Amino acid sequence: MVKKICGIGAGYVGGPTMAVIALKCPSIEVAVVDISHSRISAWNSDKLPIYEPGLEEVIQQCRGKNLLFSTDIEKHVYEADIIFVNVNTPTKTSGLGAGKAADLTYWESAARMIADVSRSNKIVVEKSTVPVRTAEVIEKILVHNSNGMVKYQILSNPEFLSEGTSIQDLLNPDRVLIGGNDKNLGGQEAIQKLKAIYANWVPEDRIITTNLWSAELSKLADNAFLAQRISSINAMSALCEATGADVSQVSCVLSKNTKLGSKYLNASVGFGGSCFQKDILNLVYICESNGLVEVANYWKEVIKVNDYQKSRFVKKVVTSMFNTVSGKKIAVLGFSFKKDTSDTRKTPAIDVCKGLLADNACLSIYDPRVSEDQIRTDLSTNEIRWDCSTQVKPASFTNVKQVSVFGDVYEATKDAHGICVLTEWDEFKTIDYQKIFDSMEKPAFVFDGRNVLDVDKLKKIGFIVYSIGKPIDQWVDC
Ligand code: UDX
Ligand code: UDX
Ligand code: ADP
Repeated sequence: MVKKICGIGAGYVGGPTMAVIALKCPSIEVAVVDISHSRISAWNSDKLPIYEPGLEEVIQQCRGKNLLFSTDIEKHVYEADIIFVNVNTPTKTSGLGAGKAADLTYWESAARMIADVSRSNKIVVEKSTVPVRTAEVIEKILVHNSNGMVKYQILSNPEFLSEGTSIQDLLNPDRVLIGGNDKNLGGQEAIQKLKAIYANWVPEDRIITTNLWSAELSKLADNAFLAQRISSINAMSALCEATGADVSQVSCVLSKNTKLGSKYLNASVGFGGSCFQKDILNLVYICESNGLVEVANYWKEVIKVNDYQKSRFVKKVVTSMFNTVSGKKIAVLGFSFKKDTSDTRKTPAIDVCKGLLADNACLSIYDPRVSEDQIRTDLSTNEIRWDCSTQVKPASFTNVKQVSVFGDVYEATKDAHGICVLTEWDEFKTIDYQKIFDSMEKPAFVFDGRNVLDVDKLKKIGFIVYSIGKPIDQWVDC
């Protein structure tokens, strides 16, 4: 009988996932631990460290009952029957595989700590996305660092939630994947124990069990296929603009093809988030390590098209505004990588803003959920490029003159020459564009990087509008 679960890592994945397990398994004690004291105190406060619709309600229902957040990692690991490892696996920034391979430092240190403190048998669950065959490495660390009395079973249980809808995704998943070593009895029992936890709320036919390596690789494959679809439609958007086709119409036609399905066909300024680029590069590195150069190059192209889409957008802004944005105020609406999340990891807004700053634009940024500190940190961070190309110089943290951040959309757009919509927040559909138009410099431009605005309405007001993948006459002749 599983009495206690410990989740190591209280981030975007660990926090919501452990909270929903606590909600659905009231007889199990769930402890979420993290090395970051500030994160844990935020989880214990009224202001949670991450924004997700529905998360607050779940936390309120369980916290203090069977869900607790703590920095006393050793104690809770020692007491747990099952340990979910939800630590971050960023891309390596130096050494072998820099820019592509996953950095397993946090994972390794979590595994060594588990081995140090455990005195009873444990099921260790890989929740974070890891390279295929990581379980083998983890098992070696655990076995070689334990006294031989404790038995470990490693399971891979990758998370398929999407930020912004993570609570809904967790409550009603399309599938739960459990990979384990079904060749031995201990492995089979571990799989059954984890399956029984999910069976409290997930129909059994949605719980898929596979071998460990299939589960690890399926997560990378899943994200690579989704990202590939977005890069495919984004590549089509460029062709639409060149030919007079409309990418929304093309998407609509494709979406009705039941062989393809309707999701992940929205042309955009580019995909972002902590998963897609990282996981594809990870896949590329694994392919290269296995001598599969052609396969690696195939997946690299998905990222290249994404980079192309972001630079194409910047180019469109600059060329439309008479080939110069120098000294012009451009309002950026939306900074998070998609709506309904405060997460900015790998958001396309970073590259677009850096591109515009390189052309000496003055940016006034508004996002309903991202803090000014976060925006300034993102714009001043010098990130390692995956393709080792020279990157656009980041904005200096102290160069406040070129970047202003506003808490009000009307203030952000006042006196601007142009507006770039970079995240599809719902509120951008209903703001008063007449009022905004009246306060802007003329001609007033709108660049809709998410195809969410009512173009006809904006044109009637007097804006010059550019949408992704729309016929040229829609924005040139107005
Ligand atoms: C993704 C996967 O969907 C999820 O299964 C996995 O577990 C984690 O990675 P997430 O990164 O939260 O989830 O966001 P997702 O909704 O998939 O969007 C990723 C990016 O693609 C966002 O920047 C989004 O705006 C963009 N996108 C998505 C498009 O540009 N067009 C689309 O049609 C869909
Ligand atoms: C295709 C389109 O599906 C159809 O909509 C269009 O009208 C004509 O082109 P078709 O060429 O008849 O139809 O066959 P389809 O079943 O799509 O298969 C095309 C090729 O892909 C075949 O060689 C098939 O074996 C292969 N295929 C299909 C796969 O390798 N894997 C699959 O999952 C599906
Ligand atoms: P994700 O989106 O994968 O959840 P985050 O960065 O939001 O990524 O969360 C990962 C969390 O894991 C962070 O809060 C980090 O402090 C925590 N973490 C990393 N290493 C350890 C460790 N060894 N022990 C406990 N927590 C850890």
